[in-house]
Amino acid sequence: MTKIDLELRPGQSLELLKELHILTRDGKINQDSRRKLKQVYHLYQFIEPLLNDLVHSDLAIKLADMGAGKSYLGFIINDLFLKHQNNSHVYAIETRQELVTKSQELAKILNFTNMSFLPLSNQDSLKSNMLPNNIQMVTALHACDRATDEAITFALEKKAKHIVLVPCCQAEVAGILREKKSKMLSGSMVELFRHSLHTREFGSHLTNVLRCLWLESKGYQVTVTELVGWEHSMKNELIIATYKNLPGNRAQKKLEDILVEFNLESIQDRYFNNSFS
Ligand SMILES: C[S@@+](CC[C@H](N)C(=O)[O-])C[C@H]1O[C@@H](n2cnc3c(N)ncnc32)[C@H](O)[C@@H]1O
Repeated sequence: MTKIDLELRPGQSLELLKELHILTRDGKINQDSRRKLKQVYHLYQFIEPLLNDLVHSDLAIKLADMGAGKSYLGFIINDLFLKHQNNSHVYAIETRQELVTKSQELAKILNFTNMSFLPLSNQDSLKSNMLPNNIQMVTALHACDRATDEAITFALEKKAKHIVLVPCCQAEVAGILREKKSKMLSGSMVELFRHSLHTREFGSHLTNVLRCLWLESKGYQVTVTELVGWEHSMKNELIIATYKNLPGNRAQKKLEDILVEFNLESIQDRYFNNSFS
């Protein structure tokens, strides 16, 4: 058995792996591609049980991948799982038209008729009539800055049962902290982010904490874990939220308190009104 045999799953499309440059045209795999494939499988390991849960709930699975880029993740999920499920559909949302066109061409080659690639921002996708009213799973892998928050808003509006996020760089909260920190210098809490590097890192951390509380305030159970083996990126925090209709009052109160404590009231609309200013 070759090494490729060891890493491929039954029924997996070799053509897809070639088009994604994981396999070379003559079917070989190089070290870089091996790592890439391992990483995608690693993330898929977390996603597969959630998909199985949807199958068991007897739902026709609609999945939206927000800030899809080359739609790597959507293609792999479709190839490994969704193409085998009746009436399933993948919606890949991406602002860059050239990436959308490329993905449309690839889906045609692979005959993946259950995939749509929409040239939209995550925010605009909420108003689009090209998407259904309900989406069972939303993924956002390295959606930049507040594009992850837009994906959460979308997921909440579409009543997604499962939400899988690997947030990317985050500038918005760090920017507000930077602007306001001189006013907070008397308190000791400012030491958490006084130095520039800390402002950036703490801003990013605080953003993810707010995202978790936001989801919990809406009745989701949230787990945060590390995407081990994601060596090519510093951004390896994996947030998985599953709707359980849990009481959200305590999380909402904590969210409100943190926003006040860190002078972040200017971004509160997204958490409480599902809107962005
Ligand atoms: C870092 S890439 C990640 C791509 C892909 N999810 C992956 O992990 O391979 C972020 C992508 O999000 C897209 N993007 C940025 N802001 C967006 C927004 N507000 N709505 C939709 N897509 C956005 C960018 O064009 C880019 O392709």
